[in-house]
Amino acid sequence: MQSFLSVNDADNIPQLIDLARSIKKNPLQKNLGGHLTLGLIFMNPSLRTRLSTQKAGHNLGMNVMVMNFSGEGWALETEDGVVMNGDKPEHIKEAAAVIGQYCDIIGIRSFATLSDRQKDYDEFVLKKFVQYAGVPVINMESATVHPLQSLTDLITIEEYKTRPRPKVVLTWAPHPKALPQAVANSFAQWVQKTDYEFVITHPKGYELAPEFAGKATIEYDQAAAFEGADFIYAKNWSSYTDYGKVLHQDLNWMVTEEKMKRTRNAFFMHCLPVRRNMIVDDAVLDSDRSIVIQEAGNRVYAAQAVLHSIIQSTL
Ligand code: CP
Repeated sequence: MQSFLSVNDADNIPQLIDLARSIKKNPLQKNLGGHLTLGLIFMNPSLRTRLSTQKAGHNLGMNVMVMNFSGEGWALETEDGVVMNGDKPEHIKEAAAVIGQYCDIIGIRSFATLSDRQKDYDEFVLKKFVQYAGVPVINMESATVHPLQSLTDLITIEEYKTRPRPKVVLTWAPHPKALPQAVANSFAQWVQKTDYEFVITHPKGYELAPEFAGKATIEYDQAAAFEGADFIYAKNWSSYTDYGKVLHQDLNWMVTEEKMKRTRNAFFMHCLPVRRNMIVDDAVLDSDRSIVIQEAGNRVYAAQAVLHSIIQSTL
């Protein structure tokens, strides 16, 4: 693996999942990365991605440097050819290249603008960063995808599934603010690399971009989608068609204990952070069928498997 920007960089997903699960049994691999530096660059807030990737780096013996650009770095100009006479003193061209001088691998988080669909779906910032960094790059959630999260989600489903071909349901759920489509896009993309039965349920107007929805079954009736499900994966996202808009906040789409009764005693999953009694009610989130904490725990092993693969093939 040269870099990890999307599902397309995972040549063999079952092998990557097996690697993560074997690392989970024996996580300390200090010799593998003891001579290397990992830089983690955040343009947006994070709890899980920051700490789990940092821990993965430490498990590999790496020196890990973390920088929050939103509060600590110079504001970055990303457009080429502009007169930089505004409030952005540093160009991404120099910033990425300089970070590449200090680090052997760089993780970057840069969310969608939710205002310019073309630029977001072209992965304008991530591509620029990759172009100038000069070292392998790991996507820690970009405008359109969150592959470390999705790899984690598959690892977790593999751990908990009780039949070879589980029914996995991605359900939209209400949220007060406009959120990117990245987690939902990525989850849909990765699940469709498996042979699981896969259903996406959401209100009309929340259709994912066709390249991410792929051939998934779309069911506008949430109750029907939940029938016989083994895993309920909840997530909010703003509209792709009416780009970045919150079309409604219908609490009837919240995942409740009553709705979970339609499933095959399904496990409840969410990438976190999650808004209680908005996305999911307390009864579901606090039940023994909720595996959100175990899922978050697996973020370490997903990140470590990716770092391990990049180190072995490139460094
Ligand atoms: N799921 C996830 O990426 O969490 P953070 O935003 O806290 O990193």
